[in-house]
Amino acid sequence: SRPPLTYVEGIPLIKYFAEALGPLQSFKPLPDDLLISTYPKSGTTWVSEILDMIYQGGDVEKCRRAPIFIRVPFLEFKGPGIPSGMETLTETPAPRLLKTHLPLALLPQVLLDQKTKVIYVARNAKDVAVSYYHFYRMATVHPDPGTWDEFLERFMAGEVSYGSWYQHVQEWWELGRTHPLLYLFYEDMKEDPKREIKKILKFLGRSLPEETVDHIVQQTSFKEMKKNSMTNYTLAPPEIMDHSISAFMRKGIAGDWKTTFTVAQNERFDAHYAEKMAGCSLRFRSEL
Ligand code: PPS
Repeated sequence: SRPPLTYVEGIPLIKYFAEALGPLQSFKPLPDDLLISTYPKSGTTWVSEILDMIYQGGDVEKCRRAPIFIRVPFLEFKGPGIPSGMETLTETPAPRLLKTHLPLALLPQVLLDQKTKVIYVARNAKDVAVSYYHFYRMATVHPDPGTWDEFLERFMAGEVSYGSWYQHVQEWWELGRTHPLLYLFYEDMKEDPKREIKKILKFLGRSLPEETVDHIVQQTSFKEMKKNSMTNYTLAPPEIMDHSISAFMRKGIAGDWKTTFTVAQNERFDAHYAEKMAGCSLRFRSEL
């Protein structure tokens, strides 16, 4: 029984998450909180593990203390089988890493008012659409995705959980003009993870020995994170995810859309994309 999405201020959301928005209004940020913000399927888990590794000084054992969804509370999470994001938060010692996928219209205003530091990760739209399709299939708290063609149409129309990718990547990009925010790209992380980790360290005002950075690069590779039960979501309750349908750690590459989009879908997508992204200074790599 897959529940339909609920609309909150015009934004489609998983029913459970919509219910969590009320309690989330009482959220109180701490001065050293760091918010990890992404549109779903853009590298959230990857950058979360990198950040916890940085916070733990590269100590792998400390990062195995709990699954990633406990170490990095997911603010708007509510669902069967595990505590809500707000409940998990109460057990989380400072300095805290927090995760959200919320568009700005639904984000607790206090995070903006208090200038909570943000690391945003964006991934190219086509790979996000493909990854999201497979995630919808396996994360059974979502509605049935239908066929790939049907799902792609819904993605383009913003009729998927968290709404429009186009709006999300653009509004958070614009926020960076006035808010302490580091805007990263999944494709840059794939190309040179060490360079991107150094950007993160600079943004945080932290430093680590060179060999620790190398160690973090190695430990947060797709291969390592796929086999690590504390990062691969195999410890998520079965009511939420069914790994026999598709793995959470699926492929972990840039450009996988090429194996999924038909020529016709790609042409239609490109034309729609150009319209939706016109007038924004945000640019994704042209080869994608
Ligand atoms: S979620 O559910 O929104 O939090 O998902 P998110 O973590 O943002 O995105 C999942 C996709 O990221 C891939 N992934 C990685 N890629 C490269 N390196 C590492 N270490 C890594 N960890 C996760 C994951 O495989 C999903 O992408 P796809 O394309 O489906 O494989």
